[in-house]
Amino acid sequence: MRLFEGMKNENGVLSIGGVKLTDLYNKYKQALYVYDEQLLEDTCKLFTENFKSSNFETEILYASKAFSCLEIYRLISKFNLGTDAVSQGEMFTAKQAGFDMKKVYFHGNNKTYEELAAALDYGVSNIIIDNDYEYHFINDLAKEREVQVNILLRINTGIDAHTHEYIKTSKDDSKFGYSVYDEKIYDLIYDMSNQSNLNFLGFHSHIGSQIFEEESFFEATKTVFNFSKKVQEKVKIDIKVLNLGGGFGVYYTKNDKPMELVSFLNRYIKVIEDERNTSGLNIEKIIIEPGRSLICNAGSTLYEIGGTKKTYAGREYIFVDGGMGDNPRYALYKAEYECCIVNKINKENIREYTIAGKYCESGDIIIKNVNLPQAERGDLLLVTSTGAYNHSMASNYNKMRKLGVVFLKDGKDRLVVKADTLEDLIKNDI
Ligand code: LLP
Repeated sequence: MRLFEGMKNENGVLSIGGVKLTDLYNKYKQALYVYDEQLLEDTCKLFTENFKSSNFETEILYASKAFSCLEIYRLISKFNLGTDAVSQGEMFTAKQAGFDMKKVYFHGNNKTYEELAAALDYGVSNIIIDNDYEYHFINDLAKEREVQVNILLRINTGIDAHTHEYIKTSKDDSKFGYSVYDEKIYDLIYDMSNQSNLNFLGFHSHIGSQIFEEESFFEATKTVFNFSKKVQEKVKIDIKVLNLGGGFGVYYTKNDKPMELVSFLNRYIKVIEDERNTSGLNIEKIIIEPGRSLICNAGSTLYEIGGTKKTYAGREYIFVDGGMGDNPRYALYKAEYECCIVNKINKENIREYTIAGKYCESGDIIIKNVNLPQAERGDLLLVTSTGAYNHSMASNYNKMRKLGVVFLKDGKDRLVVKADTLEDLIKNDI
């Protein structure tokens, strides 16, 4: 298993941020999401320090769908990051955390009138428009309230990066955004840019998630610049802001070969500078929206092993006090993870196990076929790289309680999200 920045072998026991995970489990006595706060902070800094240019302003928005809670908005604001919010719930959480709502960009492909009204109530002034009906909603609201709202239009560049090769096509059928190949887009932009209460600033593009080929990002950037140039010529408006999205791939297992972030961001900036120069466009600000790459490796899940079971067919299971409710990504995507037995890290990996949870479903698996030391009831298991899209995608299936979240730093643990109580499970029931 790969040890990330703050992970240490302390005489055969794993620690994160100076906290021995055996002590941590003894304190909370239940499975937990644990975050290395220092690594998280260092990654925020890495983005702000490496994604900058002397030619234009840059802004890093943390895509908070990866992990959203009060403390994360407080933490990212220390590093002057903005955030991408996709729901009223994410905006509300940011607001409650005291986040600067001018740094929130409201996304989504089906924003309701009520959600857009709530965004304005919260002081959100940047809206990413996905389609024409929400454009009309926000235009009506801005007029009614006599306020100015900044808007970006989400465009679809047709670059499909999910397939590990990028292809350009005008026949992209993703539900997000407005195709740059659809001629109607120019009328929409003309219309949007002529509304007295809307400041049409430019475009947003996001090509997908967990992408390893930097060329896909560069190609998308070129397409966005070419399109912007075409718009500027056809519609005669200035494009000032481009949001190029997130999607930078991360390490989960040895099979993943992510881009080295610092050098990638430096090359990315260079490509953007070149495109800006050759296009002649006076783009004032470039935004990116990392989610996973900002937080995934800082988070892990700590479980207790309840026991092992060898099936008649020969598969040997380790059962943990969690499962698909706290990490649905194997069930959903066949996602792969690494893990270790926290209190046996000096021992040899001599047995092949499958890690299963306690949910009433055969698909309740966290990792299939992983080599570990002999496991026993009471051992602790750490699954790494669960910092993104685990807590935020967790469920109460089987009326299981969602896990708490603890931040670890300088030898101290800090509970930032409490685990569900039994009462929480019925609090909305009548
Ligand atoms: N911006 C937009 C508009 C997005 O839709 C997303 C992710 C991001 C930024 C952040 O992408 P990231 O940097 O995290 O790759 N549930 C899936 C991931 C869904 C991602 C959705 N959009 C998973 O567990 O892998």
